[in-house]
Amino acid sequence: MAIGGGGSVKTLVRIGVLASGRGSNFEALLRAEHSGDLGATVAVLLSDHADAGAIEIARRHGIPAQHLQLLGRGRIAPEDEAAIVRCLRAHDVGLVCMAGFMRLVGRTLLEAFPGAVLNIHPSLLPSFPGLHATEQAVAHGVKVSGCTVHIVTHRMDAGPIVAQVAVPVHEGDSGETLASRILEQEHLLYPQAVRWWAERRLAVSGRMVHVLPAAAAREVTT
Ligand code: GRF
Repeated sequence: MAIGGGGSVKTLVRIGVLASGRGSNFEALLRAEHSGDLGATVAVLLSDHADAGAIEIARRHGIPAQHLQLLGRGRIAPEDEAAIVRCLRAHDVGLVCMAGFMRLVGRTLLEAFPGAVLNIHPSLLPSFPGLHATEQAVAHGVKVSGCTVHIVTHRMDAGPIVAQVAVPVHEGDSGETLASRILEQEHLLYPQAVRWWAERRLAVSGRMVHVLPAAAAREVTT
């Protein structure tokens, strides 16, 4: 099944970004859009933290930003997800990008955006899912870690893998030093994966995500 793309060949995919914190991946998507390398446009930023750096970045770039007041912790309550879906639809969003969003999404959001919710994680999944991935990697003694963009499913950090980049773990690395080297690669990988999605170049078959050549994607789109 080919996923992705806008309503028509000429319509740019509109992205809704969910971010809880600093927002450097959100900003990397904006930078890629501005340099014409995203093939999509960032339409709205939603954050569950009123003081998130991502909200400040959105303001600086003139992107609408909304603070989500969510119930509880962990998995988002269905009524909150319904409100998120309404907000994303109001901004005509076709692709949802989780970028350091510290809550688990469920059925309501995933069914509203089938195959259209991506996440970036700072490890080579399926190794080291969940919190503190780089600390887990250092503690485990792996020599190579990296980052992963995957399609979000209801299971945390377990959806089909779109793209990965390996990053060596250096002698003496801490979780923090490894995270900062991985982050540089995240900022390149996420825009690339979004671009593939926007160009309808991703074909999903079970757990496998195939990246189609650009010409084949054009045939699917037209
Ligand atoms: C990134 O390392 C991302 O992979 C993880 O959370 C971190 C978010 O960083 N999910 P930022 O807010 O994008 O700077």
